[in-house]
This record gives sequence, structure tokens and C-alpha cells, in this order.
Amino acid sequence: MIRNLPDLSVPIDFQALFGRTAPVEIEIGVGKGRFMREYALAHPEKNLLGLEKVPKWMKHAHARVEKAGIENVCLIATYVEGFLERYISDFSVDAYHIYFPDPWPKKKHHKHRIFKESFLRQIERTLKPQGELFVATDHKEYYEVILNTLVSFSRNGLSMLPWERSAFVSNFQAKYEKEGRPIYFCKAVKEGFRTTEMAA
Ligand SMILES: C[S@@+](CC[C@H](N)C(=O)[O-])C[C@H]1O[C@@H](n2cnc3c(N)ncnc32)[C@H](O)[C@@H]1O
Repeated sequence: MIRNLPDLSVPIDFQALFGRTAPVEIEIGVGKGRFMREYALAHPEKNLLGLEKVPKWMKHAHARVEKAGIENVCLIATYVEGFLERYISDFSVDAYHIYFPDPWPKKKHHKHRIFKESFLRQIERTLKPQGELFVATDHKEYYEVILNTLVSFSRNGLSMLPWERSAFVSNFQAKYEKEGRPIYFCKAVKEGFRTTEMAA
């Protein structure tokens, strides 16, 4: 299902939104929705919320999940910036998935990157204890920035844990694995972390 921002309660009542109480996981930047479809099919017991800033991609993702008869996914066309602050309650999310966030490689564009302290503060605030953050990128420099931001956050309760690779493959992961590009994965848990470079 697709929901528009004005139709949402502030903060979101997940029980009302999904019509049931279940673990909640959020994907930021769903793109064309390949990860979301695969993950939702494998985890019908979870409530999955997808955020995507480009309406065209969100509609593409929606068509994909609808075609697969998936009922546990809700998609919202929105920038993540400001969304978590307004719509997501403290300690309400079981996991975040962020696959191939735009790296904005030029220095003058770094300000557009989503990984910054203010963002991680929102991730940390909204995750349940033991809640998880999964990240993958092909961009080494951005990966290092992400790790550094996470390290500075480990004092605040997010720490890194081992994670080899996402078994549920997003569009970008599929494309880059096919090309043989290195992909960097990391996982953080609300309280240890480990990182891996995958030789594809
Ligand atoms: C490189 S694509 C990766 C898409 C998908 N996660 C994958 O791995 O195939 C990044 C996606 O994040 C979305 N995105 C980028 N910045 C965003 C933001 N600030 N809020 C919400 N979505 C964003 C883009 O529109 C795009 O669909």
C-alpha cells in the first residue's frame, strides 16, 4: 500500500497503519523495490515501511510488491530528512535497511549525504533496544565516513557487529555484484559492529 504524508498520524501508529502488531522495519531509499519485495516475501511476519524520495521509483516498487501479492509493506514518497523526527516514535523500530545510499561524490555535495550525526541520532532514538541498522555501499570513501560516524556513535549506544553480506539483494547490489565491484557492508546494533569488504 502507498500512504501520503498528510494521511499519517503524528507520530505514526504502526498498529493502525498495518492493522496488526508486528515487528517494524524501515528501508530508506527503496529505489525500484527489489530488496523490499524479496524481504517481504521471506518475512510476512514483519511490518515493513519503505521510504523513497522519488515518486516514480516508489510507484515502481509498489507495482512490484503488489504484483507479488505482498500485504505487509507500506510505501511513502518522502525524503527521510525530517521524516524520522516527526513520524517515528522513540523505541518503535526493530531494524533499518539502507542499501546504496546516494554517495554524492563531489565534496561540495557531501552536505546532501544522509549519513551524518543528526541522522544517526534519529536512528538511535527510534530503534528498540537490540534494534539493528544494515548498510551496504560500493563507495569506499562514503563507507569510511559511515563507519566513522558510527564509531563516534558507539558511545551513544550504536555498535557494530559482524555482517558478511545481505542475502536479500537490492537492485544496486545485484547490478554491482554482476559487475564484480567490491561492496562494503556494515551492521550496527543498538548498544557492537563488524565490517566486511566483499570480493564479488
Ligand atoms: C542508489 S539508489 C539505491 C536504491 C536501492 N536501495 C538499491 O540498493 O537498489 C538510492 C535511492 O535512495 C533514494 N534516496 C536518496 N536520498 C534520499 C532521501 N534523502 N530520502 C529518501 N530517499 C532517498 C533515491 O531516490 C534512490 O532511489
